[in-house]
Amino acid sequence: MTIALSKGRIYKDTLPLLAQAGIEPVDDPETSRKLILDTNHPDVKVVVIRATDVPTYVQYGAADVGVSGKDVLMEHGGEGIYEPLDLRIARCRLMVAGHPGATQRAGRLRVATKFVNTTRRYYAEQGRQVEIIKLYGSMELAPLVGLADCIVDLVDTGNTLRANGLEPLEHIADISSRLIVNKASMKMKSARVKALIQSMDTAVSQAA
Ligand code: ATP
Ligand code: PRP
Ligand code: MG
Repeated sequence: MTIALSKGRIYKDTLPLLAQAGIEPVDDPETSRKLILDTNHPDVKVVVIRATDVPTYVQYGAADVGVSGKDVLMEHGGEGIYEPLDLRIARCRLMVAGHPGATQRAGRLRVATKFVNTTRRYYAEQGRQVEIIKLYGSMELAPLVGLADCIVDLVDTGNTLRANGLEPLEHIADISSRLIVNKASMKMKSARVKALIQSMDTAVSQAA
């Protein structure tokens, strides 16, 4: 069984949940250059990839399971993937943000984001015409330099927005990370996968 994780907060927060399921990686991705980590189980490997690539690996069965933010799953679309468990880690909100009143003005808004699909869907539901500008990071800069009227980005403490003179304006979705499973793996490796879901579910309840 192969488990896909991304470095940083998801890896850090998933580790204790995996440990409760009896799975412990042998190497640390923050210090090792290895992309496939061995674990204490010879038949369980952990692959360490970019957060946005996790659903893709699971969709194609290159990993049987993975941990992915709901923001990333909404953007990916979830094809070929089951999402059986909310791990309640890496919690934040997906929001429209900008200078106060930025979205009040008439006409077509310019919105900078890395969540292009989700943003398009959100404004389509609002019936509002927008021009979406795709960025890959540091979205908070866009309204400061006149690249966009507002942004769609993740907000946790609000510190990043505040530090740049911006404010949260509209709430789009509450975000947390999910355990995701390849649809074929759920059938073909049913016993292993279901045992993992079960013990991670128990670990999540105990953490609450
Ligand atoms: P990359 O640096 O590879 O572009 P990333 O920024 O998407 O990746 P992380 O910052 O580790 O990677 O974010 C992983 C997930 O954690 C996000 O998809 C989101 O669900 C959640 N997340 C992101 N920022 C925060 C935050 N400030 N507080 C809590 N959770 C967050
Ligand atoms: C995330 C997100 C925001 C920030 C929000 O960035 O993209 O910029 O956190 O958190 P806050 O409301 O608590 O300030 P991250 O820390 O993941 O940095 P990144 O740009 O490397 O993704
Ligand atoms: Mg980030």
